[in-house]
Amino acid sequence: MSAFDIAIRLVYLAVATSFVLGLHLMNSPVTARRGNLLSGGAMAVAVAATAAMLVHEGGVRPWAWIALLAGAALGSGAGLMLARRVPMTAMPQLVSLFNAVGGGAAALIGVHDFGQHGASLPVVLDVLIGGVTFSGSLIASGKLHGLVPGRPVVLPGGRAVTALLAAAMAVASGLLLAGHGGVVALAALAVAALGFGVTMVTPIGGADMPVVISLLNAFTGTAVAMAGFALGNSVLITAGALVGASGAILTKLMAEAMNRPIGAIVAGGFGTGDSAGDQVPGQGSVRTLSADDAAIQLAYASKVVVIPGYGLAAAQAQHQLRELAELLESRGAEVSYAVHPVAGRMPGHMNVLLAEAGVPYEQLADMEDANAAMPQTDVALVVGANDVVNPAARRPGTAVSGMPIVDADKARSVIVIKRSMGHGYAGIDNELYTAPTTGMYFADAKKALAEITAAVKVLVA
Ligand code: TAP
Repeated sequence: MSAFDIAIRLVYLAVATSFVLGLHLMNSPVTARRGNLLSGGAMAVAVAATAAMLVHEGGVRPWAWIALLAGAALGSGAGLMLARRVPMTAMPQLVSLFNAVGGGAAALIGVHDFGQHGASLPVVLDVLIGGVTFSGSLIASGKLHGLVPGRPVVLPGGRAVTALLAAAMAVASGLLLAGHGGVVALAALAVAALGFGVTMVTPIGGADMPVVISLLNAFTGTAVAMAGFALGNSVLITAGALVGASGAILTKLMAEAMNRPIGAIVAGGFGTGDSAGDQVPGQGSVRTLSADDAAIQLAYASKVVVIPGYGLAAAQAQHQLRELAELLESRGAEVSYAVHPVAGRMPGHMNVLLAEAGVPYEQLADMEDANAAMPQTDVALVVGANDVVNPAARRPGTAVSGMPIVDADKARSVIVIKRSMGHGYAGIDNELYTAPTTGMYFADAKKALAEITAAVKVLVA
C-alpha cells in the first residue's frame, strides 16, 4: 500500500470518528450545534479526500471532472440555499426531500455499478432501497407540504398492488442475484421499487407521519451504506450505517410515541375508516377568554404546565412564552413544560424552539411525569397544540386512537391559545376545547402571549 493510500485511510478513520463524536454531541441541545458542525466539517473533508484520491488515481476524463464539479457546486449551492431559507416549520418536508435525494443518488450508484461489474447484493439492495426511499420520500414531502393529501389515502385494491410490487421486487432481485435477467430485471426492480415507495407511503398519514419520515431516513442511510459497499468506499459505509442506525432508533421511538407497532403503521390506513370515532361525545359549548381572564387564572396559579404544539412554532412565539413563564415564576409559580414526542412537525421540534428561547432544560418535563402531576396542576397552558392533547386518542376509531397524549384535560383548569376551532394535523375535532374546565383564547400565539403577559403585569402592578 502506498503512502498516499495510507494517508487517505487515516483521513477516513478521522472522518468516521468525527461522525460518531458529532452524533454523540447531538445528544444534548447544549452541544448539538457543535456536533452538527463537526459532522458537517468531517463530511467536507471526506469529499475532499475522495476527490484527491480520484486525482491521484488519474483516469477521470476532463469532461467528467467538469460534470463532477458542476454537479457538486449545483448540489451544494441548492442545499445551502434551501437550508438557509427554510422556515423551522417546513423542516420536515426539507428533510424528506433530502432523504429522497440521498436514496435516489444511492440507487443511481447501484445502476452505475451494475453497468461496470454486473449484479451483486449491494447493487440489488442499493437500487431496491434507494428506489423505495426516493419515491416514498417525495410523497412524504408532498404530504407535509400539502401538495398531496396529508391524510391516509387507501385506494381500492391498493394493498394488493403493494403486495404485487413487493413480489415483483423479490423476483427481480432473485433473478439478478442468480445471474439472470440482466438489464430487464434491473429495470423491473427499479420500477417496482419506485412504485412500492408510492403505494407504501400514500396510505400513511395524519398523526403517523413522524414514523414514516424516520423510517425513510433509516432507509436512506441503509441505501447509502450499500452504495459504499458497491463502490468499496469505507467512509460511505460508515456514514450510511450511522444514518441507518440512528434512523432506525428514531423510528422505534416515534412508533412508541404513537403507541403503534411499526408494521401496522407501514401497513397504513390508520384513522381512515370509522368516522363515528371522530364524533365528540357530549360536545359542550366553547368558553372564550379575554387576556384579563387568562391573566387572573395564571397570576394566581401556583403550578402551571405549558404544553407547546405546532402553533407555537408557526407563530414563532417561544420568546413571548418564556417571558410570560418568567413573570409567573417571579410571582412564585412553578412552571414546567410538557413536551410530547411528536409535538410540532419534526422530532425534537419543541425542544429546539424552547432551547432557542433559553428555557432551562430542567423545566422540560417528560410526558409521563407531567401527566402524573396533572391533577395537582392549577393551569395547563396549551399553546398551539391540538392532536397531542386530544382526548379522542383514548377512544378507538379516530385518527389519533391509541396515541399517548398530554393529559391537559386532567388539570384543574385549561387555557388553550390558538386562532380558531380549526383542526390539527390529524384533521379531527378536539373535545378538550369544549370541556367545562377549558377556556379558549383565540389569537395568534405570539400576540396572545404578549397580551396575557401585559395583562398579568397590570394585574400585579
Ligand atoms: P397540531 O395537532 O398540528 O395542531 C397545531 C394547532 O396549532 C392547530 O390546531 C392550529 O389551530 C394551531 N396554530 C397554527 N398556527 C398558529 C398560530 N400562529 N398561533 C396559534 N396557534 C396556531 O399540533 P400538535 O398538537 O403539535 O401535534 C403535532 C401533529 O403533527 C401530530 O398529529 C403529529 O403526529 C404530526 N406530525 C408530527 C411530526 C413530528 S416528527 N413531530 C411530523 C409530521 C407530523 P388554529 O389554526 O386554530 O390556530
